[in-house]
Amino acid sequence: MRHLIDIRDFSKEEINDLLEVAEQIIADPVAFQDRCAHKRLATLFFEPSTRTRLSFEAAMQALGGSVLGFSSADSSSAAKGESVTDTVRTVSCYADIIAMRHPKEGAPFLASQQSEVPVINAGDGGHNHPTQTLTDLLTIHREKGRPNNLKIGMAGDLKFGRTVHSLITAMLQYEGISFVLMSPPELRIPSYLREMLDREGVPYLETDEMEANLGDLDILYMTRVQKERFFNEEDYVRLKDRFILDMEKMQYAAADMKILHPLPRVNEISVKVDDDPRAVYFDQVKNGMIVRMALILKLLEESK
Ligand code: NCD
Repeated sequence: MRHLIDIRDFSKEEINDLLEVAEQIIADPVAFQDRCAHKRLATLFFEPSTRTRLSFEAAMQALGGSVLGFSSADSSSAAKGESVTDTVRTVSCYADIIAMRHPKEGAPFLASQQSEVPVINAGDGGHNHPTQTLTDLLTIHREKGRPNNLKIGMAGDLKFGRTVHSLITAMLQYEGISFVLMSPPELRIPSYLREMLDREGVPYLETDEMEANLGDLDILYMTRVQKERFFNEEDYVRLKDRFILDMEKMQYAAADMKILHPLPRVNEISVKVDDDPRAVYFDQVKNGMIVRMALILKLLEESK
């Protein structure tokens, strides 16, 4: 059974194929509107979500399928003490494919081992978020026309930001990639990622300076400080406003730099930046639904 738990579960070729299908969907959505007729997607969200859950549901509906699920742990038997694996064994009797978000790292992986149907990791704690990475890759592809030879800046919470972890992992397989990792020292990337970058010989700079590093970036990936993953409120309050992108800082950025953000935004991008043509984070939202359509098709096809 094929699942998507970590972005490395898919080869570079498979990711390229997915992005190709996403482009076909954009060009002719009607051709896909019945592709999942009589199929059901279950969304099991043990953590809050707006875009990820709704885009999965909208994606399945756009393919002619139907959806069921829950949007908080409180409204499921998890509140009674049921294990994730028992929940998944149950849900795989009702659904053809499952998208799961959970606050515990590794929970979707455990679930996938007990599931009769494909499981998609829709975010596990501060660990991974592979479908956001597919969204980011489609956005990069559409905005920059290439996945190679890019200088990518990432700013904010690089420690707890699971979208950052999955995107860095995915970009390691492309040529000519370098990173500028901008965060307070306390919120730098986890050491396993630093080791991966070193092993792959990918150039990167870790810095707490933003203005001075914006000038030659192709992409600026902004992130929210992940309040829910902090051990104490005091640290969050001290760190939350350190990396804010406003129009003043945008003066230092190149005319063709693109700003991505997985959203939700709190205050790390000033709303004035939204009108700048370099801001593509709301286009990213649309791409998220499209690429999830391509993903559902692929996994259902492979589970036949
Ligand atoms: C992200 C997440 O859940 O990790 N949101 C998303 O899925 N688009 C980013 C975040 O919550 O900050």
